Amino acid sequence: MTSACISTLAIFFTLSGLRAQSVTQPKDQITVAEGNPLTVKCTYSFSGSPYLFWYVQYPNQGLQFLLKYITGDSLVKGSYGFEAEFNKSQTSFHLKKPSVLGSDSAVYFCAGSDTVVG
Ligand SMILES: *[C@@H]1O[C@H](CO)[C@@H](O)[C@H](O)[C@H]1NC(C)=O
Repeated sequence: MTSACISTLAIFFTLSGLRAQSVTQPKDQITVAEGNPLTVKCTYSFSGSPYLFWYVQYPNQGLQFLLKYITGDSLVKGSYGFEAEFNKSQTSFHLKKPSVLGSDSAVYFCAGSDTVVG
């Protein structure tokens, strides 16, 4: 059976202030059999309202934007059938896909920011 090999990285970028803030992904590598649901976890530690992003990097390719949470509906739908739910009480923004494909093998980046430019 084909599996998807999922790696994760967390980055936090800030353009202002020196507050202690971070995003965290508890596991850095997971393997999921094709057809199974995928959850890539991301929690943040943040004072104030964060902007949260998911990016994906497929093998031998550049970073691609998947989805973002700025404000409004906490369930965000993105590219390739991915979605993520912002949960303020859990301080989480887990990336989910109901049925994984082998081609979902990639590095997934959870990112947080206190500032959005533009
Ligand atoms: C946040 O997560 C908790 C625990 O999983 C859940 O009970 C709650 O309904 C979630 N809140 C939202 C807004 O999804």
